[in-house]
Amino acid sequence: MDQTSILPLLGSSGTFLPVKGHTTMASVTFDKATRIYPGATKPSVNQLDIEIADGEFLVLVGPSGCGKSTSLRMLAGLEDVNAGAIRIGDRDVTHLPPKDRDIAMVFQNYALYPHMTVADNMGFALKIAGVNKSEIRAKVEEAAKILDLTEYLDRKPKALSGGQRQRVAMGRAIVREPQVFLMDEPLSNLDAKLRVSTRTQIAGLQRRLGITTVYVTHDQTEALTMGDRVAVLKDGLLQQVDTPRNMYDRPANLFVAGFIGSPAMNLIEVPITEGGVKFGNSIVPVSRDALATAAANGDTTVVVGVRPEHFDVSGATSKDGVAVTVNVVEELGSDGFVYGSTRVGGEDKDIVIRVGGREIPAKGSTLHVVPRAGELHVFSKSTEQRISE
Ligand SMILES: Nc1ncnc2c1ncn2[C@@H]1O[C@H](COP(=O)(O)OP(=O)(O)OP(=O)(O)O)[C@@H](O)[C@H]1O
Ligand SMILES: [Mg+2]
Repeated sequence: MDQTSILPLLGSSGTFLPVKGHTTMASVTFDKATRIYPGATKPSVNQLDIEIADGEFLVLVGPSGCGKSTSLRMLAGLEDVNAGAIRIGDRDVTHLPPKDRDIAMVFQNYALYPHMTVADNMGFALKIAGVNKSEIRAKVEEAAKILDLTEYLDRKPKALSGGQRQRVAMGRAIVREPQVFLMDEPLSNLDAKLRVSTRTQIAGLQRRLGITTVYVTHDQTEALTMGDRVAVLKDGLLQQVDTPRNMYDRPANLFVAGFIGSPAMNLIEVPITEGGVKFGNSIVPVSRDALATAAANGDTTVVVGVRPEHFDVSGATSKDGVAVTVNVVEELGSDGFVYGSTRVGGEDKDIVIRVGGREIPAKGSTLHVVPRAGELHVFSKSTEQRISE
C-alpha cells in the first residue's frame, strides 16, 4: 500500500502510521492450489486457480461444504497445500507459517478476549509483536476513529452490541496493517438489518484502505453487493470468477445460474425447434451458434434460464407462451414476485415472475408469460454449460 492510498484515513493528528510502506504488490494468486484432508477420498479444494489483483475485494461464495473456508485457510497458512502453490505478490507463501505471510484474518466468531478492553483487544497483536505502548495507542485510536468505536475503547466486549463487537474484530485486523485481509463469514452472527449496514461499512472501509481482501460468504447477495469480483465454488471446484454484473448477466453454467440471483433464475427444459426453442405456444429465438452447439452435443432439448424480471406478461385471454396459475404473491411495494405453476416442455414446473408494483395479479388467477427475446440464457442439457452468448 502506498502513502497516497492511506491519506484519506489520516485523522487531524495525521498519525495512522503508514509506517510499513509496503513496497511489494499484494496481489494474491491461487495457482492450482489443492487441499486433500487426511483420509479424504477427494480434494476439498481442487486445483483452485484465481488471481486477485492488488487492492481487489474478492468474494468466495458457494453452498455449505464447497471449500470456501479451506481455500481461505490455505491462504492463511492454517491448512496444508497438497498440490499447486499460493503467492502473495511475488512471494511464494505455499509453505510459509501464518505469521510470516503478512495477513490478518477476521473470523465468524470474533473471538475477542472477554477480560480485555476494546482497546487492548485491538492492540493485542501489536503488543505481542513488541510494538511500544504509545505507538499501539495511536494505531488503536486511529482504527477506532475509522470504525466509530472511539467511545467504546475502555469497555469490555460483553458490554457491546454484536455489530460493535464485529467492528472490534475488524479493528484488530486493521491495526496490523496487513498486506491482505481474510474474512470468513464475519457477518453471520449479526441480525439481518445489521448485516446489511455492516456489509456496506466493510466494503466502504476496504475501498478506502485499499487492502487486498478475500471474503468468504455463503450468501450470494452479500457476494454480489460487496465484491469487485466474485468466485463461485461448488464441491471444491471453481465454477466461475467474474464481476457481479457478469456473474448475473452471463452465468457460465447451470449451477451458477441457479445460485446467483434472488429469487433464483427460472431454469426450464424446452425442446429445440427451427430458429429457437419452443416455450409453450411461442417460439423464442436462440442464436444459431447455441443451437449448433446443442446439436453437436446430441441434444434435442436445452435448459433455458429466465430471470424473474425477464418475462413478458399478459392476461388469461392471451395465447402467448405458457399459462401460469398464480399460487403466491409477494408484494414489495415497488414491485412484486409471483410464484406460480405451469406446464412446459411436458413437465409441471414452478415459476417465479417479477411484476410491477401496480400490476399484482390475484392469487388463483392465470397469467401468460413468455421470455423476452434477447434475455434468454441457454444451457446445454448434457454438459450444463452456457451455450448462448
Ligand atoms: N479438518 C477437516 N478434516 C477433514 N475434512 C474437512 C476438514 N475441514 C473441512 N473438511 C471438509 O472439506 C469440505 C470443505 O469444507 P469447508 O469448511 O472448506 O467448507 P465451507 O465452504 O467453508 O462450508 P461452510 O459454508 O459450511 O462453512 C467439506 O466437505 C468438509 O467436510
Ligand atoms: Mg466455512
